[in-house]
This record gives sequence, structure tokens and C-alpha cells, in this order.
Amino acid sequence: MKKRAASRSFRNQGNWAPALRDNGWATADRCRRSSRQQRQIDVSSPQQRQIGMKKRGANMETRTDIKVDLKNTGIDPSEIEGRRGEAQDALNRLWSGELDFTGWVRDPLEFSDAAVNELIDVAAEIRGKCDYFLVLGVGGSFMGAKAVVDLLQSPEADTRVLFAGYNFNARYIHDLLREIGDADLCLCVVSKSGTTTETLSAYGIFKEIMLEKYGPEETAARTYVVTEHRSNYLFDMAVAEGSRIFDLALDIGGRYSVLTPVGLLPIAVAGIDIRAIMNGARALCSRETFRSDGLDYAITRQAFADAGKTIEVYEFFDPYFAYFGEWLKQLFGESEGKDGKGLFPTSLMFSRDLHSMGQFLQQGTPCFFETFITVDETSEDVEIPALAMKPFAGKTIQQINLCAEKGVQDAHVKAGIPVISIRLPRLDENVTGQLLYYFETQCAVSALLSGVNPFNQPGVEDYKREMRAYITALDK
Ligand code: PA5
Repeated sequence: MKKRAASRSFRNQGNWAPALRDNGWATADRCRRSSRQQRQIDVSSPQQRQIGMKKRGANMETRTDIKVDLKNTGIDPSEIEGRRGEAQDALNRLWSGELDFTGWVRDPLEFSDAAVNELIDVAAEIRGKCDYFLVLGVGGSFMGAKAVVDLLQSPEADTRVLFAGYNFNARYIHDLLREIGDADLCLCVVSKSGTTTETLSAYGIFKEIMLEKYGPEETAARTYVVTEHRSNYLFDMAVAEGSRIFDLALDIGGRYSVLTPVGLLPIAVAGIDIRAIMNGARALCSRETFRSDGLDYAITRQAFADAGKTIEVYEFFDPYFAYFGEWLKQLFGESEGKDGKGLFPTSLMFSRDLHSMGQFLQQGTPCFFETFITVDETSEDVEIPALAMKPFAGKTIQQINLCAEKGVQDAHVKAGIPVISIRLPRLDENVTGQLLYYFETQCAVSALLSGVNPFNQPGVEDYKREMRAYITALDK
């Protein structure tokens, strides 16, 4: 039985107004110095960047839609310029192949159209046979996929992509089982190592249910495995049972894998155009794109760290970005947080968090800087009816949202909070592909600038060891 999944119709309620084009970028007030600011705060030289400009004849061809505005950081542009050589060296190291786990750097170029088409075909086949596509994975093995699915999945998608294996919560599994019920299910088991406890315990639970319902052959045919192409528990089992295996390259780590089958398969099953995502990533995938001021975001982060900031707060005005914030936290936290270094990445969702953390941001300990990630255009809008309170009546939600963005930025800049602004013209697959590759590159460069290895996670092993000891002790 293949049923239609419930749609998120709430997104489409209300009166319709044409998509707004009134995206006037805030003429941010010059920030006033305050005692909250630390050294280097100087906003006298606004810099507005559009990264990755490439000369072609008299015209400039824009390779990216991502606009990075550093004029409210308070950091002297000469300091940024002074570090560009170092940042380019870091970028060159990423491209050189001398570092382990840098396969993702060239991957958008090397991941062929044929490979993308194959994923699209398999995704169509999966959608044809299941109501739910349950992705089992943790950390880099699910974060990127969930971030993109939440951002771009159509409410009308027939097959719902769900995620499990990233917690040990019994109620969560119960609720999932109840939701799936008798509906048709396919599994996607994602683990680079093929041995992760969270993923494999969930796999055991759902595999047993599928065996009862479909029998061994059909269960194997409904199980899709993404792992390294070498012997590990998951790989060996998939080979033995005849499940379809998608390779995760040996030189790509989990948190840099969203643009590989790890992310692309679930994203394609959600009906999202992965060809456009890869085209967006490819548009940025060259050293040239990040020449000149293209790495200024990474440099600015490190300038803040050197100036004593310890926290980077990613801020969104769109709840569908919630898991994108989680992906950023994982990417930066696991890449940079080692050797006693690293900015603690966190994320806030506005307006919700303006009524809680907004107080801390405005007047609390000045240990952080803010990175706004905002989108100029909305594909849908809703008008606030005349019966509502003035002055909101007759305006659209998007108009109010843009006012909130400008108002919050102005208030924070006036309070002396350093602000990086990253703006996207619209939210679509191509821009999302750019954004994923952009942050992967900035993160790796940023970590290299701070002198840590972006591609290991030795600290994560500690909890695994302790947890396994407790699990083993349950047998005694
Ligand atoms: O980014 C990483 O390397 C980690 O977050 C891993 O993705 C996570 O620990 C899951 O590991 P695995 O894919 O081996 O199951």
C-alpha cells in the first residue's frame, strides 16, 4: 500500500500576495563604539563583498549568489587583507591533495552527471515503492540531508523522508513506528565506518520489522546502504544480503559528505533537484572562486577568535533553516573544536528567539559575534488582513520579516555587537548547493588558519568508549 503523505499545508494558508521584491538592504547605522566592544572595532570603512567575481572581458561573471557583508564587523579591512595570503595558502593545501580527507574539495567536479542521474533514477524507483524513506545515520551521516530536505522539500512530496538513528530515545522510535504503521517503507542506512552504535541499533529495530512484513529478499531490496567500499559490519552485511550499496569515498569524512550519496540520495528521494544542487556547488568549486576576498568570512572568524570572541551565533529568520543551523554547528564544531581552540557555534531562530535570547544578545556578556543568514525573496507570501491591528494590517508577513531583519541588525550594531551578514537572493536548489560548498570551504580554511586539523574528531571517540563499557556491562 502506497499512501500519500500528509502535506505541510500550513505553509500555504492565507491570502496570497505576489512575491515581494522590496528587498532594500538595510542602510545600517554606523555602529557606535561602546565599552562592550573589544579591540579592533572600527566601522569607518564599510566593505560589502560579493565573493568570487571572475573577470570575463569587460563584464564580471558572478560565480556565486552569496553576498557577504563585513561592514558591521568592526574589524579593520587592512587586518583582513593582511591575512589573505595565509588563507590562500590554506586553500591551496586543501586542493593539493596533501591532506587526508580532502576528497570533498574536488568532488562536485568529479561526481559525474552520470552518477547524479543514477541517484535520480534510484530515487524515482524508491518513491515508486514506499511512503516513507527512513534514513538511519548520525552526525555527518544525516545532518546535511536533513538540513536540505527541511529547506527544500515540497509539501506535496509523495514519499516522506524521515530520520532516525541519531538518538537513543525509545519514545521517538515508538512514535516513528506508529507514524509508519502499515505504510510501505524503505531504509537508507548511512555510516562511513559501518559500525556506529546509534545507526546500527536503529537498523536492527527497523530491519526486524521489515523482515516480518516483506521477508528477507524484499527487505534487502528495500534497503539502501551508503558506506565506504571496504569491509566493515554494514558493508559486509549489505554484500551478503544483496542490498544496494552506494560508496562514500575513502577520502571524504562525514561532515563534508552532504554533496555525495550520503546527502544526495535522501535529498533526491525527497523530490529535490540534486542536479541543480550539484550545479550550484560546481559553480563555486574552483580555487579561483575564493581568490581575492572570497575567504574573508573565514579570516574574519579567526580575527574575532584572536580578539577574544568565543561564540559565533548563526541567526535565521526562516524556521526551515533550523536544521541548516544544526549542520553548521556540526561542521564547525567538529572541525574546529580541538586543541583548546575553536569558536563555539550556535544558532538562533528569529523572531522566536528575540523573545528569549534577544535579551542576552542585546545586553549580556559580549563573548560572541553574530552571523546573519538571510534570504531576500520568498516564493510565497501571506497578507495580514485588514481586521488585524495597525500598523500591521494590510502588510505581508514577508514585509514584516524584512523589517524585523533590518531592525534587529540595526539594534545589535548600535549595541556594539559585531555582525557578519550573509545574504542569499532566493532559496532554491542552486543557491543551496552553493551555500553547502561555501561553508565547507570556509570551515576547513578557518580551522587550518587556527592550526587545527579540520578532518579528525578524536574527542568524539571518548564518549563512545565510555558508552560501550556501560553497554557491555549490561550483559553481566
Ligand atoms: O563528521 C563526522 O565524521 C561524524 O559526525 C560522523 O559522520 C558520525 O560520527 C557518524 O559516523 P559514521 O558515518 O561512521 O557512522
